[in-house]
Amino acid sequence: MAAEHQAVAPVAVVPATWRDLRAVWDLEKLCFPDDSWPWIDVLAALTFPETVRLKAMLEGQPAGFIVGDRRRHEGMGWIATIGVHPDRRRQGIARRLLEQCEIDLGMPRVRLTLRRSNLGARRLYDLAGYQQIDVWNRYYRNGEDGLVMEKVMPPGGASQDERRLVE
Ligand SMILES: CC(C)(COP(=O)(O)OP(=O)(O)OC[C@H]1O[C@@H](n2cnc3c(N)ncnc32)[C@H](O)[C@@H]1OP(=O)(O)O)[C@@H](O)C(=O)NCCC(=O)NCCS
Repeated sequence: MAAEHQAVAPVAVVPATWRDLRAVWDLEKLCFPDDSWPWIDVLAALTFPETVRLKAMLEGQPAGFIVGDRRRHEGMGWIATIGVHPDRRRQGIARRLLEQCEIDLGMPRVRLTLRRSNLGARRLYDLAGYQQIDVWNRYYRNGEDGLVMEKVMPPGGASQDERRLVE
């Protein structure tokens, strides 16, 4: 019964600010133990004007985050990072963060990169409608290839009503 309740616990996807620096950096280190961003990059992501930053709040605690950059000259949004607390995975939180970030970016196309070995993330992006468009050889610090994926947003998709409260 308790597990069922956890699975349907309401998640609020809301904007993150510089006040969330500690919480987001802690999540970043948990989610990317080998190549987490330094705190200064997290702070930049939480303050740059062309950046969308969202956190997922579950039971009053930050359970996940996402950062997206707008590149208006390219007509493109880029998902820069996304992570969900290891204890809160497989509850649809990343999917909801991604959906809201795509809406808030408001760009006709959205791209991202992921490690070739990151099969869980690959599945998430496949299901969200991303297509692989390129491979960046040895893109990551350990020499692993980066897969570039792109989603062409459906017409009107970026203008949907914001759905910050999701169940
Ligand atoms: C990848 C990550 C963000 C997914 O977060 P999440 O909240 O668990 O993802 P969701 O629950 O929204 O997953 C939605 C769907 O994606 C797929 N998926 C997500 N994680 C998966 C995994 N580890 N294995 C297989 N499929 C997975 C599933 O189809 C899932 O639906 P289901 O649970 O009903 O089967 C999370 O595992 C994470 O933070 N990983 C470490 C950081 C990272 O790799 N970020 C991505 C960098 S590109």
